[in-house]
Amino acid sequence: MLFKSFIASVGLAILTFVPHATAFWRMPCEAPVLIERSDPIVNPGQVSSHLHTIMGPNSFDFTMSYDDARKKATCSTCRVEQDRSAYWTPNLWFKAQNGSFTPVPQVGGGLIYYMQRRHGTEKVHAFPPGFRMLAGNPMVRSFKNTQASKAISYACIDTVRKPETRGFPKGNCDKGLRLQVFFPSCWDGKNTDSVDHKSHMAYPSDVDNGFCPTTHPKRVISLFYEIMFDVNSFVESGLWKPNNDFPFVLSNGDGTGFGSHADFLNGWDQKTLQTAIDTCTNSSGDFADCPVFKRISGEAAKECMLTKAIAEKTSGWLPALPGCNPVTYGPADAKPGNCGVQKQAVIGPREKLYSDMSHLGFEYLGCVVDSIFARTFPERTWDDKMTIDMCINKCTEKGFPMAGVQYANECYCGTRVPKERLGMQRCLMPCVGDSKQICGGQARMSVYKKKGYVAKRVMGMERRGNGAVRLRV
Ligand SMILES: *[C@@H]1O[C@H](CO)[C@@H](O)[C@H](O)[C@H]1NC(C)=O
Ligand SMILES: *[C@@H]1O[C@H](CO)[C@@H](O)[C@H](O)[C@H]1NC(C)=O
Repeated sequence: MLFKSFIASVGLAILTFVPHATAFWRMPCEAPVLIERSDPIVNPGQVSSHLHTIMGPNSFDFTMSYDDARKKATCSTCRVEQDRSAYWTPNLWFKAQNGSFTPVPQVGGGLIYYMQRRHGTEKVHAFPPGFRMLAGNPMVRSFKNTQASKAISYACIDTVRKPETRGFPKGNCDKGLRLQVFFPSCWDGKNTDSVDHKSHMAYPSDVDNGFCPTTHPKRVISLFYEIMFDVNSFVESGLWKPNNDFPFVLSNGDGTGFGSHADFLNGWDQKTLQTAIDTCTNSSGDFADCPVFKRISGEAAKECMLTKAIAEKTSGWLPALPGCNPVTYGPADAKPGNCGVQKQAVIGPREKLYSDMSHLGFEYLGCVVDSIFARTFPERTWDDKMTIDMCINKCTEKGFPMAGVQYANECYCGTRVPKERLGMQRCLMPCVGDSKQICGGQARMSVYKKKGYVAKRVMGMERRGNGAVRLRV
């Protein structure tokens, strides 16, 4: 409903030639940067009560300031270089008939709409440094006739056209279930946050449009999140035979969908955002039509990630949702769960995707992109008991100072890594011979080098060779 009215008003604006009132751009976020029980707005420094899927910078953390967001990040899964904002929502789970849970695959990361909604000729402001806010309420389990409740909706994308709903739909959505959250856009003009992280903001008269209340007179840019989940994969795998039911729940234990919510932590360069608000009014909605944005490629955005700091299972089949989140179906609001004595999750150091190889005199260089058309290293072997140790030993025997493990069971030896191939992050595959070690990934190689070794320039020979170039050693 929300989305339809949004489309309708875009159409209306075009007809009546209101120039800026309905301009917008969509910022694609290609992947979650992290899925973890973390929420630096609601539970700073602590384990959050439920799991979130987080899009944005790799500076995301349990506590996080505006400066942290901007200065500590080296990448973001969202595609504008001048934006280091973090965007997060609960994730979706499938509840099997035996009561076990497994996460629903997320399609990409999210699509974040930035919309220059305004009433009359009022100025639309960029978020100031330190700004943060919430939309929605994780405890709610029924529709309340409030603006906050109206800001939550779902689009069941299906071959058969289905209307948008406020809570979960029924039956399959063969092209995906889209979780949608509209943020308030009326600001008190003073506070960048508030105790409940909401009251410094208010919704305008029509939720997604209209005039601001006098208590919150300053208009900021309107934010709208779309996060897509592949519910159809459970039909394909035979785990769900849709029968006007909907066996999915949000990570906060919500079986109704009304308890959806979203968080925004500003990480924008304020000048860039203000310039974009004032000048990026192309009706295409394509962020690429906004010349002030330095764009991050889709591939680079997909690569960006952060490893977990809480050692708890968040994938596969689980007997309960992570945290204490018994599933409730309302209509009464949920109460904090009572799960009895259970092992408390703790925040540890972030998981390392490499191993200490100093016992072999080697150190980690990084995660490197490889290609079957242009191998990074000339020598290749494989073994169904591959470990990092095995690969380093093989390469050392042959006189190579660098060893790279790839795709769980492959080992490559070489002498240098072209700079442009370094800096990858998604080396995530456990080695076949030792599941505690990481052996690269598909077209990703975890590279170790002899301590103290500095690669000489070798005229790019290895880069062109496809296993053909042998080195004299
Ligand atoms: C519950 O059902 C799922 C789907 O069939 C299965 O994969 C899982 O192992 C089952 N869990 C238990 C505890 O039996
Ligand atoms: C708006 O975007 C389209 C492409 O999506 C482009 O062809 C056109 O030149 C843009 N208009 C302006 C004024 O930037």
